[in-house]
Amino acid sequence: AIANSMDSNLLNFTSITTSTSDRITLPQGYSSSTLMSWGDPIFANAPEFNANGKQDSTAQALQFGDNTDGMGIFPLSNDRAILAINNEYTNYKYLFDHQGKSMTADDVKKSQAAVGITIVEIIKNNGQWVMDKTGRANRRITANTEMLLTGPAAGDALLKTAADPTGKKVLGTFNNCADGKTPWGTYLTCEENFNGFFGAQEGTPLTADHQRYGVKAKQSKYQWHNFDPRFDLAKNPNEPNRFGWVVEIDPTDPTSTPKKRTAMGRFKHENAAVVVNDDGHVVIYLGDDERGEHLYKFVSKEKFVEGNDNKNRDLLDEGTLYVAKFGMQKDKLEGDGQWLELTYGKNGLTKENGFNSQAEVVIFARRAATQVGATTMDRPEWVAVHPDKKHVFCTLTNNKHRGIKEGQTVGGPNPRAENHYGQIIRWAPTNHDHTAETFKWDLYVIAGNPTVHEGNLYAGSENITKDNMFNSPDGIGFDKAGRLWIQTDGNYSNEGDFAGQGNNQMLCGDPETGEIRRFLTGPTGCEITGLTFSEDQKTMFVGVQHPSGNFPAGGDNKPRSTIVMINKDDGGVIGSKF
Ligand code: FEO
Ligand code: CA
Ligand code: CA
Ligand code: CA
Repeated sequence: AIANSMDSNLLNFTSITTSTSDRITLPQGYSSSTLMSWGDPIFANAPEFNANGKQDSTAQALQFGDNTDGMGIFPLSNDRAILAINNEYTNYKYLFDHQGKSMTADDVKKSQAAVGITIVEIIKNNGQWVMDKTGRANRRITANTEMLLTGPAAGDALLKTAADPTGKKVLGTFNNCADGKTPWGTYLTCEENFNGFFGAQEGTPLTADHQRYGVKAKQSKYQWHNFDPRFDLAKNPNEPNRFGWVVEIDPTDPTSTPKKRTAMGRFKHENAAVVVNDDGHVVIYLGDDERGEHLYKFVSKEKFVEGNDNKNRDLLDEGTLYVAKFGMQKDKLEGDGQWLELTYGKNGLTKENGFNSQAEVVIFARRAATQVGATTMDRPEWVAVHPDKKHVFCTLTNNKHRGIKEGQTVGGPNPRAENHYGQIIRWAPTNHDHTAETFKWDLYVIAGNPTVHEGNLYAGSENITKDNMFNSPDGIGFDKAGRLWIQTDGNYSNEGDFAGQGNNQMLCGDPETGEIRRFLTGPTGCEITGLTFSEDQKTMFVGVQHPSGNFPAGGDNKPRSTIVMINKDDGGVIGSKF
């Protein structure tokens, strides 16, 4: 099913070579510039960034958070927009002068202020977008911002803590990976590896459910639990149940309370790909990024009504959660698939099997997915819906456990043992109906290395050549013309299995012809993650996360996570001829 035609009408740039240099490279005719870096002040009264690692929590709470990830743009006019940006985690090597070796209570607060969300207004100044420190929407949301838990799990005993006997009020969000945008103007931010922020003395007893989510009784690398008992599992065993959700935020109102929408299940959420089905139901595709975990979708109970935003704003609180099961035939790289309903009382989600309510089904969505027989996947990362709504794409980034660990057999959409390269799956809902319970799938691309492997799937699919190869596809998104932008978060050693693949990068795919060209290479050590476009598609915003050289300032400067803007030198639409 994968074509490899070289006459794409969509990809109007010349593919670039790989790079191991500490800078961004782009095709001829394109340039990049910096929008903002970790630590940049986002309010008029905020202190300038100081690289000495000694700025305190108050400063960080007024500055751009660390490790930029998914982001969404909300246009206000032709020359003003709101940008909502995830700050996934923070790196103590750069955050502190002591690199995390002598933490204090304020250091924990600073770390908690370095993660979460940054919302800023940007304005077009002499043709170039810049941050507006006086923007009225500017806001930092951190690990301590008050939010609400809503939907089927809100108020459940498993979400109650000493500090919150209601089980409905929670402080903060963190490990916000990628994003989604609703047609009623809200931003969705997805909580991924929340488990890493909790800790406890070794030997503290934990439940099997804690273990399924990777919550461990040990010193956490962030050390929050040493100063903030909320993160000590011995004191607050239910606190981790309050993370791992999709959070909905109104980016236009800095006083609004973010809402954790529990109907979409609790797992290590990557992004939330929103599509309004032809019949008005809102469908959201959701990946759970862990080796051998699953792919989900949510279908709202009520329908989206254009202009009725008061009602639309509660659409994500009621609906049906499903998990994917892929049909597999030996040696076939395509097949049928099915969405299995995760509703209490159905498909074995009963008391006999350990589920007492819909609240428990969503809180322990992973266990529910196993119960119904969902397919274990090679780490589902971002999902993107083609603008024509006929196909949906999901990156399966890699999975070293495939074919090794129990329950992770080789086959179907996960066709390689010890998969170091990743693949992108594509499916077509039956009759283009995203609420349908069946679909057909194939693989859009199997990443690989045709200079190291030959005659097997590790060389990649036909649309992979020595000139466009990469590993570990992660962020993906479509532009309005239907170009598929593919970002990587993989092995950048440029050796062995990865010889000739260079630094992490961004490529562009033609979904019709299958052709893929390399568009951008990132600086040393980074992953490229997060993308959004200005309304006119003439500026592309791209995230450079965890660079480890001296990007962006060069010299011997500290590396800083940075959002860059890509422009075409002739002022045209990114990727277009003109
Ligand atoms: Fe935050 Fe799975 O990437
Ligand atoms: Ca990712
Ligand atoms: Ca990552
Ligand atoms: Ca990744």
